Amino acid sequence: MPLVNMKTLLADAQKGNYAVGSFSVANMEMILGVVKAAEELNAPIILQIAEVRLNHSPLALIGPTMLAAARRAKVPVAVHLDHGTTLPCIKQALDLGFTSVMFDGSHLPLEENIRLTKEVVAMAKPYGAAAEAEIGCVGGSEDGSEDIAMRCTSPDQAVLFARETGVDALAVAIGNAHGNYKETPHLRFDILEEIKDRVSVPLVLHGGTGILPEEFKRCFKTGIKKINIATATFDRVEQTVRAAYSAGTIKGYYDLHQAEIAGAYQNAKLHIEIFETEGHA
Ligand code: 13P
Repeated sequence: MPLVNMKTLLADAQKGNYAVGSFSVANMEMILGVVKAAEELNAPIILQIAEVRLNHSPLALIGPTMLAAARRAKVPVAVHLDHGTTLPCIKQALDLGFTSVMFDGSHLPLEENIRLTKEVVAMAKPYGAAAEAEIGCVGGSEDGSEDIAMRCTSPDQAVLFARETGVDALAVAIGNAHGNYKETPHLRFDILEEIKDRVSVPLVLHGGTGILPEEFKRCFKTGIKKINIATATFDRVEQTVRAAYSAGTIKGYYDLHQAEIAGAYQNAKLHIEIFETEGHA
């Protein structure tokens, strides 16, 4: 199954009334674990990495690994740059062959966000890649380095933004935040419903870690077609490794390698099942 465009995956998810998990990865072991879960459940997935994480996992190294994993997978896999903030980085991802890029101008004034998003949409077009952008402000930040205040998306602005920019996927802020929630999130389904009724572009939910299964289900029945999961993967990998050390099952480096794959696999499997993506490859 080839590396695929994210647009195709999200269009299929719109027809099938499910969501596609977009899993953040930091190394080859996480990539192997996520793809293994997708293959086992016969589910399409998205592999992603955020620009802010590239100081740990350089794009020139992790990018080709993600792409190679997608090309040899038995299920459709899109490869996505998450939270691109600089145009050179977005261009580098497109040059490598990423099939989707996000420009995050959510912190900018609306006009500036629209202007730069349009530039990214135009940049992605010759590559045949999809473009995602964000309107409103998802709380926290992808790597937890900033405590960005959450600001719910205005449905009027979402309509204007989608029309002006021509984005392929639109990330909305409905009470969701990156990282582990300090208290149970209360998602604003009233806002989501209004956006879904007025915007035809597939919607994206960031900050997937800590959202309850029934809330995820309500989200993907209300226009959310891509759900980003990052912290849950990193935490699960770390916990699996710790547990293996405690149980004395790590005797050498390759046991550690297997424990990392297992952690990423378990987390991806859990979310693919919740998102009802199983069997849609
Ligand atoms: P979490 O870390 O909360 O899962 O958020 C992931 C995300 O939205 C990445 O863009």
